Amino acid sequence: MTLEQEIERRRTFGIIAHPDAGKTTLTEKLLLFGGAIQTAGAVKSNKIDMGTRSDWMDIEKQRGISVATSVMGFEYKDLKINILDTPGHEDFAEDTYRTLTAVDSVIMVIDCVKGVERQTEKLMEVCRMRNTPVICFINKLDREGRDAFELLDEIEEKLAIKVRPMSWPIGMGKTLRGVFNIYENNLNLYEPNKQKRVDEVVEIQGVEDPNLSDHLPDSAIETLREEIELVNGVYDEFDSSAYLSGEMAPVFFGSAVNNFGIRELLDCFTEIAPQPHSRETEEREILPTENKFSGFIFKIHANMDPKHRNRIAFVRVCSGKFQRGSNYFNVRQNKNFRFSNATAFMAQQKETVEEAFPGDIVGLYDTGNLKIGDTLSEGEKGIYKGIPSFSPELFREVINLDAMKSKQLEKGLNQLMDEGVAQLFTFEMGSRKVVGTVGALQFEVLQYRLLNEYGANAKFESVNIYKACWISGDDDKVDAFVKDKYRHIAKDKEGKLVFMAETKAWLQMVQENFPDVQFHFISEF
Ligand code: G4P
Repeated sequence: MTLEQEIERRRTFGIIAHPDAGKTTLTEKLLLFGGAIQTAGAVKSNKIDMGTRSDWMDIEKQRGISVATSVMGFEYKDLKINILDTPGHEDFAEDTYRTLTAVDSVIMVIDCVKGVERQTEKLMEVCRMRNTPVICFINKLDREGRDAFELLDEIEEKLAIKVRPMSWPIGMGKTLRGVFNIYENNLNLYEPNKQKRVDEVVEIQGVEDPNLSDHLPDSAIETLREEIELVNGVYDEFDSSAYLSGEMAPVFFGSAVNNFGIRELLDCFTEIAPQPHSRETEEREILPTENKFSGFIFKIHANMDPKHRNRIAFVRVCSGKFQRGSNYFNVRQNKNFRFSNATAFMAQQKETVEEAFPGDIVGLYDTGNLKIGDTLSEGEKGIYKGIPSFSPELFREVINLDAMKSKQLEKGLNQLMDEGVAQLFTFEMGSRKVVGTVGALQFEVLQYRLLNEYGANAKFESVNIYKACWISGDDDKVDAFVKDKYRHIAKDKEGKLVFMAETKAWLQMVQENFPDVQFHFISEF
C-alpha cells in the first residue's frame, strides 16, 4: 500500500464526555461492532472512583488500566480506526486537552437525562480552539430523558455549534420503540435488554412509507412524521464542509449499553470523519503525505513500579512513515535518538510495531529524555504547535522539607512537569516555586512520587493565587509592567513570563490599568 493509501484509510478520534455519560460503554460497543472484541465487559472503565476508600494508589491502579486502553486501534470496512481514550476524572482534564491535540475528530457522548454538563462544555471549548469536527451521540435513550428538541437546543446554545440530527428517537424510556435513521432512511427497532450486536434494520422508503405501520403503532408513526417534518424545517441539511470545519455537529441517538444506535453511528462516522490532515509547525505546514517522518508527543505515562522506572511516550505520527529502530531527531534537544522499542495498540493488545503511518499512535519507551510537546522528525527543525498549557485552577507553593535533598526535589519536579502532571511557576523574586494543577489529586500524586521516586520530601502549601496569566505586548510595555508588578511575576517552565493574579477583581483592575499588555489564559497565543 502506498503512503497515500495508508493515510486515506486512517481515522483517529477521541470520545469525550462528562463522567458517567457512557464513554467507556460506547468505546466498548464501537469495538464490538467493529469486530475488534467479541464480548462485552472487556473494556475497563478508567473512571476514578472518588469514594471514601479511594486513595492515590487506587488511582494508580486505575491509571494502569487507562494505559492499556489509551489507544485502541481496529480495522473496520478497510479502515484503520484509532480511538484515543481520554481520562474521565476532571482532575486529569489537562491530559484530556492534550489528547485532543492528537485526534482528527471527536465523538461527544451526552446523557439524554442530564443534557450538556459542565465538563462537556469545557471539552467543547478545547475542540473549538482547533476546529475539531464533532459528532454527538445522545445516549441512554432507554431512560426517561429530556425532549429531543430541547436537548438539541441545549447543545446549540451551550456548545455554540449548529446541530443536524442524523437519526431520530421514536419514543424514549419505557416508550422507546426505535430510531429512524434520517441519514440512511431506514428504521432500527429497539428490543430492550438486547445484549448482542444487531445489524438488522427495516428498509423503508422514508417516513411516509405505508409499511411503517407493520412495525409501529399509528400514534408513534404520526408523531414521527410530525417530528421529522419539523427536523427538516428547523435544521440545515447535513453539510460535510461545515462538519469538517467544526461548525456543524451531526447528532445520533441511541443506548450504548443496549447496543442500540451504535452501528449507524459507526457507519456514518466511517463515511464522514476526516482522515489525517496537514499540521502546523512553528516553521511551516507539514502534509501527512510528505515522505519524511514527523510526529509529536502528547502524553507520557510513567511506570510506577520502582523496579521498572521507564516511561511510555505517546507519539502521534503526522507525516511519512515511522520505522522502528530508526534514528529520529528530537527538535527541542537538537539531538538524534534511536527508537528500537516501539509499541502499537491494537484493540486492547500492545504489540511491537515495525512501522506506523500518519494518524497512528506509537508508544516509545523512554528513560527520561522525552517531554510532552516534543517534536520528532528526520531532521526538520520546526516544533509542532498546538499543545498549549491552560491556566491551572489550583496553586500551591512547594516547600522543601529536607534541605539535603534540594537537587532531588528539583530533578523530580522537572521530570514530573515534563510528564504533564502539573505546571511549575518560579517567581522572579526569591525563586519561590508554585505548582499549578487542575485538581487537588495531582498534589497527592506529586508528593507521593517525589518521595518514592526521587527521595525528595516536599509539601504543598496554599497560596493566594487566582490565575496565572501569560503576558505579551511591546517590549517596553511588558518591561514596565514587570517592573511595577515584580512581586507577582513568575516564569513558566519554558521561561515565559506569567502574571500571578491574586483575585479576579484585582486582575480586572490590573488589566484596565495596563491596556497595552495582553493577558492570556493559555500558554500559546
Ligand atoms: P463514562 O465512561 O462516561 O464515565 O461512563 P460509563 O460508560 O462507565 O457509563 C456510566 C454508567 O452508565 C454505567 O452504569 C453504564 O452501564 C451506564 N450506561 C451506559 N450506557 C447506557 C445506556 O444506554 N442506558 C443506560 N440506562 N445506562 C447506560 P454504572 O451503574 O455506573 O456501571 P455498570 O455497573 O452498569 O457497569
